[in-house]
Amino acid sequence: MRGTVLLGIAVLVWPASVAAQGDPDRGAALAAAECAQCHDISAEGEPKTYPPSFASIAWYREAEQIRARILYPQLHGAMPLTRVIGLDDIDDLVAYIVSLENED
Ligand code: HEC
Repeated sequence: MRGTVLLGIAVLVWPASVAAQGDPDRGAALAAAECAQCHDISAEGEPKTYPPSFASIAWYREAEQIRARILYPQLHGAMPLTRVIGLDDIDDLVAYIVSLENED
């Protein structure tokens, strides 16, 4: 009985934790609108391009590193993000970029 109650709580909490990790589909749409003029945002992006393709970033960076570089563009110099994007947007963008690692 106690196990059933705990499982019920876990199921109720689950969607919130998934949402906190970002929505890769929404991230893909944001990337197309805000990032594609400079980056190759596709899963087929080549390594060693400038700026780096999102597929290569997915391969050599952890999610937290990607998040940091979107949050603090000045850390890596030349990325001139002129528009302030929201924290939810960043979660979605990170989820999208990370998802590219598993595609060919
Ligand atoms: C005006 C062009 C431009 C736009 C628009 C742009 N970027 Fe960039 N981005 C760059 C350049 C140039 C770099 C490389 C900076 C460097 O390291 O010298 C970069 C670097 C990055 C990096 C770090 C790559 C690494 O070295 O790990 C991430 C992550 C990134 N961009 C994400 C984004 C996302 C997400 C968006 C859309 C919200 C975006 N960028 C929009 C030009 C752009």
